[in-house]
Amino acid sequence: MIIASETLKGKRITLQKAIKSFEMAQAHNHEVKKSLAELSPWLGWACPTYKVEDSYEYLQGCVHEWDKGTEFNYMILDENKNFMGMISALNVREKDKCLEIGYWISTSYAGKGYMQEAVKLIEKEFFDLGINRIVIHTDVLNKKSANVPQKLGYVLEGIQRQALWNKKEQKFRDINTFSKLRREYEQSL
Ligand SMILES: CC(C)(COP(=O)(O)OP(=O)(O)OC[C@H]1O[C@@H](n2cnc3c(N)ncnc32)[C@H](O)[C@@H]1OP(=O)(O)O)[C@@H](O)C(=O)NCCC(=O)NCCS
Repeated sequence: MIIASETLKGKRITLQKAIKSFEMAQAHNHEVKKSLAELSPWLGWACPTYKVEDSYEYLQGCVHEWDKGTEFNYMILDENKNFMGMISALNVREKDKCLEIGYWISTSYAGKGYMQEAVKLIEKEFFDLGINRIVIHTDVLNKKSANVPQKLGYVLEGIQRQALWNKKEQKFRDINTFSKLRREYEQSL
């Protein structure tokens, strides 16, 4: 089983293993609620009825998945340990040495290059742990999200047609699949 570091330190941010506590659930919920306009078009769970209890349940699930080695969910924290958002290594398949990265950041912190910094920290950790392939999926209309893998040298493998149901728009959405291989990561160092 993959044993990932619980803390990943960057220049401006720290990624910290998601923990279940009432304080964290409050911070998580507060930032989700503040950012609903930006999150809800892309993330089905981000809706006006999302409660602190939902945040707590989510964090509880994160701890459970971490223990199983199937998902590694990190809280993104600023230099004062304020909660900024989440980044996750998801759908970890050890046999195939691949995983997917998912992310969101509070609107208060967006547009400052923090997510690219967070993705770089995750890449380093998991490529160093032996992962061979990292995938990022983005809605074709979500330009800000696609900008992250594009800026970090990911290859656009293709577009999955009507691959996700968008609850808010009640429409199927086309999804970009970006990837980076271990050899590409090593060449870029
Ligand atoms: C998509 C999302 C994660 C991007 O987060 P982000 O931190 O703004 O992304 P980046 O790290 O790529 O930052 C790029 C922006 O920072 C600016 N920037 C400022 N300083 C920078 C720096 N030092 N390095 C890089 N970019 C910097 C860039 O110019 C760019 O600004 P722009 O968006 O106005 O062009 C965020 O918008 C979000 O959470 N959206 C809603 C949820 C979502 O879509 N999640 C993904 C689902 S697939």
